[in-house]
Amino acid sequence: MKKCPNAQYCGGCSYQGIAYDKQLKIKQERIEELLSGFGNVSKIIGCKQPLNYRNKVQFSFGYDEDHKVISGYYLPKSHMIVPVKECMIADEKINQIYASIRKIINRLHISIFDERVMKGCLRHLVIHGTSLGEYMVVLVSGSATLHKKEEFVKEILKYNPEVKTIIHNINNKRTSTILGSRNTVLYGKGYITDELCGLSFRISASSFYQVNRFQTSVLYETAIKAAALTGNETLIDAYCGTGTIGLVAANSAKKVFGVESNASAVKDAKLNMKLNQIENAQFILEDAGKYMDDLAKRKTHIDVLIMDPPRAGSDQRFLKSLIEMAPAKVVYVSCNPVTLKRDLQFLNRYYDVKMIQPVDMFPFTDHIETVCSLYHR
Ligand SMILES: C[S@@+](CC[C@H](N)C(=O)[O-])C[C@H]1O[C@@H](n2cnc3c(N)ncnc32)[C@H](O)[C@@H]1O
Repeated sequence: MKKCPNAQYCGGCSYQGIAYDKQLKIKQERIEELLSGFGNVSKIIGCKQPLNYRNKVQFSFGYDEDHKVISGYYLPKSHMIVPVKECMIADEKINQIYASIRKIINRLHISIFDERVMKGCLRHLVIHGTSLGEYMVVLVSGSATLHKKEEFVKEILKYNPEVKTIIHNINNKRTSTILGSRNTVLYGKGYITDELCGLSFRISASSFYQVNRFQTSVLYETAIKAAALTGNETLIDAYCGTGTIGLVAANSAKKVFGVESNASAVKDAKLNMKLNQIENAQFILEDAGKYMDDLAKRKTHIDVLIMDPPRAGSDQRFLKSLIEMAPAKVVYVSCNPVTLKRDLQFLNRYYDVKMIQPVDMFPFTDHIETVCSLYHR
C-alpha cells in the first residue's frame, strides 16, 4: 500500500505504513484488552475501502516562518499547520476541490488569517461530500467579512461544478474549534443531500454527520440489528445528531424519540423526518442527561435505547436515569472504547452485555468505533 507523502509530519494518521489487516488486528486486540471482561468481542468489521473514505475534511490556513501562505492540518494538540496538498484518507473529489481553491486563493490574493496577531481573513476551509456527488464548501474567516467574496465564490463555482452550496462561517475567537457560531449562505441551499440505508439526509455546516462514506451504513445496520426490533417498541435515539439512526430504525419501531443538544442538528433531524415521510418520530433539542432525567421522573416507559454519545461518553445523570427507566435493551454506539468501558462498568450492574462488535470507521488512525448490545437482567 502506498505511503502518504505527509506521513512523517502530519500526525493525523498514526497507522501510516501499517498494512490494513495489521491495523485491524491491532484494533481488535485493543478492544479485547479493554472490553473482554464484559463478554465475547466479535471480529472487527473492516472498511471495504480503507483509503479516500472521509466525506468531510477541515483544512487550516496560515503563514510559515517566512510569511508564506500555507495550508493543511494542525499538528495534533497544537496550532502548528503541517502543509498538506492531498490527504490519502479524504474523498478524492475533496482533494481536487481543495487543490482548486488553493489556486484560486493564490490567484485572487485572498487575505489569510494570522492567528499570532488575530488579523486577516481566511482561516479554515471545510469541504463535505455525499454519496450523491454533492459537495459543500465552508469558508471560515477570522474577520467579519469575507475578502473578495463575490469573485471568490464565482471562481469556486466556475472550476468546481460539483459544489452545490457555499457557506461563510465566522470564527474570530482564540480557539481550537474550527467553526464559529454564525453561518451565512453564499450560494445554494445551505445544505447538501446524502443517501444512506435507503433514506435521504441533509447535511449542513454545523451538524454532526458520520465521516466514513463506506462504513456508516454498516455501523447503523449493526446497531439496529442489535436492537432486534419487532415493530412494537418505543425507542430513544440519544445523542441523535441529524436523526440518522432513529430514522433508519423508525420503520421497525412503533415510536422513536431522538434527543440532541445541537440546535442545527435537531433542525436537520426534523427536516430529514419530513424528507423521508416518516411520521412516527419526534426530535427534541435538549441535553440528553436532562431529557432522560425528566422521562425517569415521569416514569415513562421505553423499550429500547440506542445511544451514540461523543468521545467523552455519557454522564452520570444520563446513566442513572437509564437505570431507573430500565429499558429491556440498550445499544451503545461508541467512538471511544475508554469511556465505553467506564460506562459499561456502571451499566453492567443491571445489564448483561450480549454483543461487543468493533466496526472500523477510521482506517489509518487509532480511533475505534464499537457497538455493544445490553439486555436487562
Ligand atoms: C457521535 S455523534 C452521534 C450522532 C448521530 N448518532 C450520528 O450517527 O450521526 C454525538 C452527538 O451527540 C451530540 N451531543 C453531545 N453532547 C450532548 C448532550 N449532552 N446531549 C445531547 N446531545 C449531545 C453531539 O452534538 C453529536 O451530534
